[in-house]
Amino acid sequence: MGMYIINGGNRLEGELRIEGSKNAVLPILAASIINGKNSIIHNVPYLKDVNTLVSMLESIGCKYSFVGNTVIVDSTGDLDINIPEKPVREMRSSIILMGAMLGRFKKVKISFPGGCEIGLRPIDLHLSGLRLLGAKIVESHGYIICECDKLYGNEIHLDYPSVGATENIMLAAVSAEGVTTIQNAAREPEIVDLQDFLNKMGAKITGAGSSTIRIQGVTSFHDVEHTVIPDRIVAGTYAVAAAITGGKVVIRDIIPEHIKPIISKLGESGCKIYRYDKDISISCSRRPNAVDIIKTMPYPGFPTDMQAQMMALMCTARGTSIFIETIFENRYKHAEELIKMGANIKIEGRAAIVKGVNKLMGAHVFSRDLRGGAALVLAGLAAEGTTIVDNVDLHIERGYENLDIKLKNLGADITKEK
Ligand code: EPZ
Repeated sequence: MGMYIINGGNRLEGELRIEGSKNAVLPILAASIINGKNSIIHNVPYLKDVNTLVSMLESIGCKYSFVGNTVIVDSTGDLDINIPEKPVREMRSSIILMGAMLGRFKKVKISFPGGCEIGLRPIDLHLSGLRLLGAKIVESHGYIICECDKLYGNEIHLDYPSVGATENIMLAAVSAEGVTTIQNAAREPEIVDLQDFLNKMGAKITGAGSSTIRIQGVTSFHDVEHTVIPDRIVAGTYAVAAAITGGKVVIRDIIPEHIKPIISKLGESGCKIYRYDKDISISCSRRPNAVDIIKTMPYPGFPTDMQAQMMALMCTARGTSIFIETIFENRYKHAEELIKMGANIKIEGRAAIVKGVNKLMGAHVFSRDLRGGAALVLAGLAAEGTTIVDNVDLHIERGYENLDIKLKNLGADITKEK
């Protein structure tokens, strides 16, 4: 399953460049189905999830080639409307193919993605939005079968600003007849990147990044070239790595605006952060202060994908922090692993009370989900002695490009074992 062996205590120093965003590139790869032509996509990170999605595109008939961090997808010709079942169950975010296939072919058969380690991950908002566009959707025997002659623009109000539902509705609505508005849309930067990609292939979308997105359906699309935005969660993870080791790191090629909610919490914990045009530098010369409340919220609030990493930092802080995880119902699995390392954490439903300890101790811990696994690596960097983080290729390598190598280049004592 692969494990990282970490000898803690080294201060991280140096600089690194942040890779393209996993949560931007996945919907953009799905969107490359829509134009039935070529899509040239730059700044694609080397991740398991990217490989999974690209292989799914190939399995339905797309052609692709990688040149460094650029992928070229050719979606010309008829594609198979049956999405392969196994990868959908392994990577639930591939449900994003549903909207793209409807946008192109007005039909798709895809298996229910099911839940994952952090929660049930229902898709009711996706399905109700697509039905409002005119899709006939039958859910049977674990499959979702969508079909319609035409999609029609409509007013859609999301009960919750779901990222995936917003993306799926955008992908289907680009070729609907008439105008679609999505109200209470997700405002994440990855939605804006998807809008930019779709508009470059001929779509007419405005409003991404706000709560109301307007999509004017069009009938034809052309080739597209696009560069994916940097990964704000990966940037935040390395910022915490600098803070938890009392180091000083320059993080390059990011969009500082996208990590403002993360930076503000790190500033509250006593880190010194300087913002430049596309870079930040972060240092923390002493034990961090506890941040009273860390409540995860949809963007531009504090991101749920940084909750675990921030918890690792607060485990070593001076004082007590209270986390409130409002997005997912089961996103504290890393807590029991951190407790094995000497952390003082109590879970009460959606709340986690973290009382900072002077030092964490190295232990053999298990990553249970992507961001929780990253948090255990961060804790290992600061812990006394050796930490083994297990199951890294199951989880961590899905969302972090060469995490061990990049940390080693910053001075961490970390090696990967098969
Ligand atoms: C995206 O997941 C991200 N994944 C997640 O990142 C991220 O944590 C999440 O958005 C929130 O920011 C990708 O972009 C690939 P949601 P998504 O739909 O789209 C409920 C990572 O670590 N909900 O905004 O699945 C749902 O149960 C991953 O990179 C419904 O109830 O998130 C959850 O409680 C983890 N019905 C909440 O909304 C629906 O139809 C947020 O889900 C859809 C969602």
